Amino acid sequence: MRIDIITVLPELLKSPFEASILKRAIEKELVEVHFHNIRDYTTTKYKQVDDYQFGGGAGMVLMIEPIDKCISKLKEERDYDEVIYLTPDGQTLNQSISNEISLKENIILLCGHYKGVDQRVRDLLITKEISIGDYVLSGGELAAAVLADSVIRLLPGVLNDETSALTDTFQDNLLAPPVYTRPAEYKGHKVPEILLSGNFGKIEEWREAEALKRTEIRRPDLLK
Ligand code: ADE
Repeated sequence: MRIDIITVLPELLKSPFEASILKRAIEKELVEVHFHNIRDYTTTKYKQVDDYQFGGGAGMVLMIEPIDKCISKLKEERDYDEVIYLTPDGQTLNQSISNEISLKENIILLCGHYKGVDQRVRDLLITKEISIGDYVLSGGELAAAVLADSVIRLLPGVLNDETSALTDTFQDNLLAPPVYTRPAEYKGHKVPEILLSGNFGKIEEWREAEALKRTEIRRPDLLK
């Protein structure tokens, strides 16, 4: 998979890809992540990427021309399955959307900033709009990192058996059960006996029951 991220702040985005699972996925060549600075595609003297909105109102709007130039250049080099705009008024991200995107070959992520992008970018260039939740961030960069992380960890070979995505919360519409590690007793608080029993059939039954219980209490909407 190849992910191209278009942004006015590439420096804000790089560090999540330079540690742990994402770093290893890139090193193992299971995913390529490329950053493109919109400012490199401006034709104006002062490298302007945004301007006041027509009709008046607070906040700057990212202009279409540099974004169009950047996306067009990428599209000349290869075909893209999706051009995704990160925006608080997009479709709310969930595990099933991440699963779906993880099956794509090449995707572009466009990060908004200030008041967002000129509506014509959305009308003409974008194939999907995604929000990571009902709150407003300063820009789409952190949202792009969240989306990329949730997608990359699903790519075959990225996680090993111990970190398998199959047992993740949400993967079967259930929250994950509680987990424990050593010591078996801490300040009088004991790990559930069953987990120390060595009876893997019973342990699996316990985990399923706990996952269901936790989901019923915390997220009954997932069971509908
Ligand atoms: N940009 C600003 N806020 C956002 C959000 N909640 N999701 C995606 N992109 C955003």
